[in-house]
Amino acid sequence: MTLVPAPAAAPSAVALLLPRTEAEQVAAELEAGGFDAFVVEDARELRELLESRPDVVVGVLDADGDPVGASQAWELMHRGVRSIPALMIIDPLTIDRLELNGAGHEDDEYLTRPYSAESVRWRVEAMWIRSVAVDDGSGPVLQGAIDSRDWGRRGQLVAVFNPKGGVGKTTIALNLAAVLAARGQRVLMIDADTVTGHVDISLGMEGVPTVVDAWRDELEGGPAIPFLELASAHPCGLRVLPLTASPIHTDVLQPERVAQALVQARRGVDFVIADLHPSYSPLNRAVFDKADRIVVPLTPDLPAIRATVKLRDVADELGMRDRLSLVVNRANTGVAVDDVEKAVGIPAWGQVRSAGLTLVRAVNEGRTLVDLAPKDPITQDFFTLADRLMGKELERVPERAPGGFRLFGRLLLAAPRARA
Ligand SMILES: Nc1ncnc2c1ncn2[C@@H]1O[C@H](COP(=O)(O)OP(=O)(O)O)[C@@H](O)[C@H]1O
Ligand SMILES: [Mg+2]
Repeated sequence: MTLVPAPAAAPSAVALLLPRTEAEQVAAELEAGGFDAFVVEDARELRELLESRPDVVVGVLDADGDPVGASQAWELMHRGVRSIPALMIIDPLTIDRLELNGAGHEDDEYLTRPYSAESVRWRVEAMWIRSVAVDDGSGPVLQGAIDSRDWGRRGQLVAVFNPKGGVGKTTIALNLAAVLAARGQRVLMIDADTVTGHVDISLGMEGVPTVVDAWRDELEGGPAIPFLELASAHPCGLRVLPLTASPIHTDVLQPERVAQALVQARRGVDFVIADLHPSYSPLNRAVFDKADRIVVPLTPDLPAIRATVKLRDVADELGMRDRLSLVVNRANTGVAVDDVEKAVGIPAWGQVRSAGLTLVRAVNEGRTLVDLAPKDPITQDFFTLADRLMGKELERVPERAPGGFRLFGRLLLAAPRARA
């Protein structure tokens, strides 16, 4: 059965970055359709809106005006807090001029000028429905009942990567995932280190099903099983899925397919955390391409700093530098955090202190820090990172102003409910 929710019963927000007169009409039409329409005037305002409203499901963007502004806005939709589909409004004559990083996004749509406000509404509704639905080949089918947390929400895909080994990638990926789960988030932990991965062992759950097992079965006629279903549940609330148990039988792991499966899994959880192998393999690059954020752990020592400087340069080349989030691990040892920041040229997004003995115990016992030592300072460091990921620090209460609804000092359209 195809379940399609009535938008009126499930208000979601839509961001509008359009010329003023168009924005007013479109906002009125969307409000009539049960959406909350927010008009923004530039990329900066769009960023603020996305940070403060997790329920923005679609962004309607003008692609004809300022080309730099349009591409910045588009970047924000896809590379910002989470990836959100964009409806690009464009003149047929300027389509060729449109320069989007990576030639657009699979979930984007285009509407050519002239257009009606009503046509925007239909498109937005369709995009919104798709964003909460999974495609099993027979058209949109919603994943169970929609609860308010699912409205248009996509989880964040967080890759944990540094080209250097031993800097704490696995430690940080695992404990961050566990703390997010402890915060009530739905988390899928992917062990994508196909060479030296040991997430399952660290969690005391050896022998769990892997993607390689499943995709090999598939070649022999077995069913195609999504990542979320393949994953094994850990008592701490995490779902855990290693790509492979063996470093040499990984041919079946086509990078694009893995990346697509991660994108699909992201729709069913709040966070997908992927612990990567230290290399620039095609698989890692496919994951970088889809990641909302790349958490880069580094230890405060010269080899790790050098490796991270190289990563920064590669990231420039791959167009992902703005998605790097540096985490200084063992921050209270070696080079001071300020100096690490200066050397790498990127501000630290987070810090985790050193806690050797506790970590050794945790790994030996197959437990995570939040389970073994919830009150320890190192665990608090992870809670700080988790809150940052969940956007807690960014939440702010919009002020109400007489005669309208003000957000960020701007008068938002108090759109009439009746059709224009
Ligand atoms: N903050 C920390 N304090 C103490 N030991 C740590 C810390 N972070 C990592 N380690 C230890 O360092 C070693 C390498 O960490 P790991 O997470 O496996 O690195 P990577 O995945 O980057 O190779 C492990 O033995 C781990 O327990
Ligand atoms: Mg590792």
